[in-house]
Amino acid sequence: MLIRDATPDDWAAVWPFWHRIVSAGETYAWDRDTPEPAARALWMAPANRVSVVEDESGAIVASAYVRPNYGGPAAHIANAGFMVDPAHAGRGIGRLLAEYVLEQARSDGYTGMIFNAVVETNPAMKLWESLGFRTLGTVPGAFRHPTRGPVGLNILFREL
Ligand SMILES: CC(C)(COP(=O)(O)OP(=O)(O)OC[C@H]1O[C@@H](n2cnc3c(N)ncnc32)[C@H](O)[C@@H]1OP(=O)(O)O)[C@@H](O)C(=O)NCCC(=O)NCCS
Repeated sequence: MLIRDATPDDWAAVWPFWHRIVSAGETYAWDRDTPEPAARALWMAPANRVSVVEDESGAIVASAYVRPNYGGPAAHIANAGFMVDPAHAGRGIGRLLAEYVLEQARSDGYTGMIFNAVVETNPAMKLWESLGFRTLGTVPGAFRHPTRGPVGLNILFREL
């Protein structure tokens, strides 16, 4: 596995799994039918530092972004997002990428990281807790899950 900064050309390889994950409607508070240009604007925004993971064949199997969660005097608190291609999920790539991103954010000068909206039913909650994130609070019923109905959105934080 190789983890590196993304180039604009990498988006073409990220989009298919980005679309698969967001259109499933289970994990991200973005429109399930987000069109490709809007998705690119969200993920590859100039303020984002985007990473990609290449497998042994050079295929891109995961991506993450880090950006300031707030501005001005609070710009040292990061926000991040993670997606592993579902065809490659459950093999440790997400944990590897998260550890990389946490270290990168620390060396970029961020002193904390916040996740604004983790669906409380997302199995990733276990991953974030194992990496030291704690839930600051939950917005009850904020997320309309396609099979579970209204579920909470957790706000997670950890120091870096
Ligand atoms: C969440 C995500 C990034 C995890 O990546 P991954 O490569 O599948 O995860 P890993 O194989 O590294 O597993 C890491 C941990 O996550 C947990 N986990 C992840 N997916 C899980 C699942 N479907 N069921 C149960 N546990 C799961 C496990 O606790 C696992 O622990 P371990 O390292 O002790 O085995 C990936 O599944 C994904 O992109 N999901 C869709 C988008 C998403 O939910 N992003 C995060 C939004 S908060």
